[in-house]
Amino acid sequence: MQLINTIKELNSLLESLDKSKTIGLVPTMGALHLGHLSLIEQAVKENDFTIVSIFVNPTQFDNKEDLAKYPNTLNEDISLLKSVSDNLIIFAPNANEIYSGNISSQSYDFEGLENVMEGEFREGHFNGVGTIVEKLLTLTNPTRAYFGEKDFQQLQIIRKLVEIKNLPVTIIGCPIVREPSGLAMSSRNERLSESLRKEAAFIYKTLKSAKEKIGTKSVGYVIHWAKEEFSKHPSLDLEYIKIVDEAKLQAVDTIDKSTKYRAFVAVYAGDVRLIDNIAL
Ligand code: PAJ
Repeated sequence: MQLINTIKELNSLLESLDKSKTIGLVPTMGALHLGHLSLIEQAVKENDFTIVSIFVNPTQFDNKEDLAKYPNTLNEDISLLKSVSDNLIIFAPNANEIYSGNISSQSYDFEGLENVMEGEFREGHFNGVGTIVEKLLTLTNPTRAYFGEKDFQQLQIIRKLVEIKNLPVTIIGCPIVREPSGLAMSSRNERLSESLRKEAAFIYKTLKSAKEKIGTKSVGYVIHWAKEEFSKHPSLDLEYIKIVDEAKLQAVDTIDKSTKYRAFVAVYAGDVRLIDNIAL
């Protein structure tokens, strides 16, 4: 296990590695849970070296309070990482190291992927994500980089980033890891009260029912039905539900068998914003 905080140390470590070896990168913001660990386990299996970055990226937070409340659990994270492998490289820089005093985002054109759902409700979010992921990919030059389908829109945007910037890396999407209740694992779940955490299981339950219904009912009907279900649940406040195609993330009215679709939701449980999605 090597813990690295600076770009200088990272560069000298990368220079010391045999160039024929493969490198897997798993970017994270820390507060690690089993969802993150599943990505790291896959990276360890598929590459000679795995770099896990831990960096709470300020430029992707549209909400200052969310950034301020983001958990910082570096010591626990390191213990968890040790339980996965002794051979990980942890890159945990500070904001100055990454942004050299200029904490701002680049502006990207992700061909419309950035304007829907999370992009619509979190202004500037994907410019922040693009900025940090481009920096991390350029700094570490990995063979493969791993991202969760939990943030499926982010995953598609990163695939687009790699395409438009012509970066020599393969992006690997990994399945969503859930709590036994069905709630998608998230660092934000720790902020839920015990009772809200139980109630939040309703989110995935509703997505699963929506998936069943889409076999026999229209898209409009299913969206209307899901909104009604959420409205009966006073402690959960639905921000959006969308049924979109996987490639362009555009809302659709009808489903055809030759195209892949997903349903996406963002829901407030108290003041905690949760997102989830399901392949249809
Ligand atoms: P973070 O929320 O820490 O997530 C890091 C990676 O873990 C992302 O690719 C995310 O999709 C994945 N992940 C989180 N919860 C998951 C779950 N329950 N199942 C499967 N994968 C899960 O996403 C970010 O950080 C940041 O935006 C980042 C890409 C690091 C850029 O700052």
